[in-house]
Amino acid sequence: MKSIPFLVLNRQYKEIKDQIGLAINRVLNSQYFILGNELSKFEDEFAKYLGVKHVVGVNSGTDALIMALKVLKIGKGDEVITPTQSFIATTLAITEVGATPIFIDSNPDTFLIDSDAIEAKITKHTKAILPVHLYGAPCNMKKIMDIAKKHKLYIIEDACQAHGAAINNQKVGTFGTIGTFSFYPGKNLGAYGDAGAICTNDDVLFEELIMYRNYGQKKKYYHTKIGINSRLDEIQAAILTVKLPYLHSWNIKRNNIAELYRQHLHKTIKTQKIIDNGISSYHLFVIEVDNRNKLKDFLEKNGVGTLIHYPVPIHLQECYANLGYKKGDFVTAEESAKKILSLPMYPELTENEVKYIAQLINQFYSF
Ligand SMILES: Cc1ncc(COP(=O)(O)O)c(C=O)c1O
Repeated sequence: MKSIPFLVLNRQYKEIKDQIGLAINRVLNSQYFILGNELSKFEDEFAKYLGVKHVVGVNSGTDALIMALKVLKIGKGDEVITPTQSFIATTLAITEVGATPIFIDSNPDTFLIDSDAIEAKITKHTKAILPVHLYGAPCNMKKIMDIAKKHKLYIIEDACQAHGAAINNQKVGTFGTIGTFSFYPGKNLGAYGDAGAICTNDDVLFEELIMYRNYGQKKKYYHTKIGINSRLDEIQAAILTVKLPYLHSWNIKRNNIAELYRQHLHKTIKTQKIIDNGISSYHLFVIEVDNRNKLKDFLEKNGVGTLIHYPVPIHLQECYANLGYKKGDFVTAEESAKKILSLPMYPELTENEVKYIAQLINQFYSF
């Protein structure tokens, strides 16, 4: 029996071990650990990669989202429109700044925020739309941008799973007012610890973010604003700079693996639809199936690791009971949560492994 874990990071590490070692040693020898040249270099290179004016490295994707909302002065009394099907951090950021999340159901085909349902939820309190490019798949940004423009709303893109995903060759994260990224180790571009970034084309917001992440100071010990401490450290920045040039080829490999899954899975197995002219970064490869839990156990017994992203839509999470949502409020997301399953997806997955997984799934459904 094969053993195919859900995620294997050491296959990638082995390929770049020497470069990583050199980068970490460079930082150790410099004895400079916070807000130095490594961070500036990574920020410049990631900005170039994205095709955006500014990148600000921070502690995590969650911090990136919180800081985006903060510098846009979104807080108590404000509403932010966001999908109920996402990782919890998207909504945690909204409630962390004191604003109210207004949830939107999923589109049944793309598994992403249903952009046709957004406009009906706009009130005089709405300040921003916070779409999530979930699993690496780009949202319908044209529609979302049209709505935002019409109602004068900010857009904060949660691109924490979508490094390199694009629409018409424009990278996601660069369509809205601000884009946010996570470099959590398992991400397409992953650090070896917590790390994140914010991108923007707005010079004023950039200046605010630079101060906000560093105790609200521009000049040491002179605090113009009330800030926090959220900086991407030099070791993580050096690691990310080593990895960044590989990101494009890793994403191509992920796309090839997605293609292989689609070729070998029986055609009735539902997979995530990618919008026209969109390219997914395939952070995750998600199928939607009946008898999901039994399939998961069957795959586990046959050595294949899978995960569920995510089993409970955010409006039904216990921590948000106070928001007053109930079962049945967002039928598509709730149904989807019962059926979705993420299959192994990493650039180093072999063709034979993908075929083996697909065959097991077909066998389970007697195709
Ligand atoms: C969609 C989404 N948003 C936000 C986050 C938060 O990022 P982090 O774990 O770096 O705080 C993550 C990642 O974990 C994510 O997947």
